[in-house]
Amino acid sequence: MFKRRIKNWYILKGQPVTDMDRRILAAQEKGHLVPKRSLIKTPEQIEGIRRCGVVNTGVLDLIEREIKEGMSTAAIDRLVFDYTTAHGAIPAPLNYEGFPKSVCTSINEVVCHGIPSEKEILRDGDIINVDVSTILDGYYSDASRMFMIGNVSPEKRRLVEVTRECLEIGMRAARPYGFVGDIGNAIQRHAEKNGYSVVRDLCGHGVGLEFHEEPEVLHFGKKGTGMMLVPGMVFTIEPMINMGDWHVFVDEDDGWTVVTEDEQPSAQWEHTFLMTETGLEILTH
Ligand code: MF3
Ligand code: CO
Repeated sequence: MFKRRIKNWYILKGQPVTDMDRRILAAQEKGHLVPKRSLIKTPEQIEGIRRCGVVNTGVLDLIEREIKEGMSTAAIDRLVFDYTTAHGAIPAPLNYEGFPKSVCTSINEVVCHGIPSEKEILRDGDIINVDVSTILDGYYSDASRMFMIGNVSPEKRRLVEVTRECLEIGMRAARPYGFVGDIGNAIQRHAEKNGYSVVRDLCGHGVGLEFHEEPEVLHFGKKGTGMMLVPGMVFTIEPMINMGDWHVFVDEDDGWTVVTEDEQPSAQWEHTFLMTETGLEILTH
């Protein structure tokens, strides 16, 4: 009896058992992965993450206004640093596990984690992902958008659009008391139906009190697998979709830049979401 209580993490002594507790317990008994209590954010924490998301969105809106052909990715990095710090916040990537800049900038065949550089100049026809993550008052948010520079080929344009649809479709597949795998399954179906592949080596993640928390949000897989989704959980969905094969490698020289093995283009869109009683709410709009 006592042992069981410890195993069932969420039933605290003297605390009323809610409908949510009962649904989590039922899933756990069936062998599903369920969130530990700290992954279910309090209203105060949600407000903090929401405020952080407003700054994060402000950064991306600024980049959207300023980005243009001929600009270096280092110039994007400066805009991110200046705007973020002017709003009392910290760019989360800066010094994160040794990452040297304030933002990730990933052009064409770069999948993610590209490092801004003075030497890297945006060219006509490029597609670029700008991945912005912010810390405000100790709370984290994370979102990325694609930008198209000048005249982008119809093939790359379609990749960018379908990847955006993948995020949208993944978002709609996430139901309270459903599972993380429902999201990945919907994304994989849409990507592959369009002749693309889903990057396997990187995933979305819980976020809010830390940069990367549980659960792992895979962008491929089976419905009904992975962690149960419970109201109050905050996590990203950030599909990386390749025009060619899903295999990627990490640049040995910098230890960060993730590139497609076949050198075909890759796209990514990302939001931070809150699970509510009715479905996902975007916190980085
Ligand atoms: N923003 C990325 C994500 O979506 C993480 C980048 S880690 C960094 O999870 F150090 F490269 F910034
Ligand atoms: Co992320």
